[in-house]
Amino acid sequence: MNDKVKEYFQQQKNLEIMADATVLGKGGDPGCGDYIELYLKIENDTILKATAMVAGCPYAIATTSAFTEMIANKSLDDAMLISGDQVATHLDGLPEEKVHCSLMGPDALRNAAHNYIMARICTPAGGKP
Ligand code: FES
Repeated sequence: MNDKVKEYFQQQKNLEIMADATVLGKGGDPGCGDYIELYLKIENDTILKATAMVAGCPYAIATTSAFTEMIANKSLDDAMLISGDQVATHLDGLPEEKVHCSLMGPDALRNAAHNYIMARICTPAGGKP
């Protein structure tokens, strides 16, 4: 484990439930069983804050922690362009067998974006999403 991964694993950032989240997204890897829930506070299609809960390996924890920082203060569209490779690069690289850990954040973000859009489409006019 490199120093950057160790830092994010030991000093986890934003790994908590967000009680007033606008939307929740879920992601995971069926291969290893690891799982995350991503909470987003969104205003005007911009992610003001991201937090997550993780049940997974130390790399899943470190990559998710980094991902919550990487998507904060970005538009939903821009955040969705962040790839697992970029998360891995942000952490100075991951061992080959742990590259899939970096995909769970983007996976959960896609699910959150889907839920966010569906809530807007399916909410009656004047209703609260
Ligand atoms: Fe599967 Fe880390 S997410 S081993």
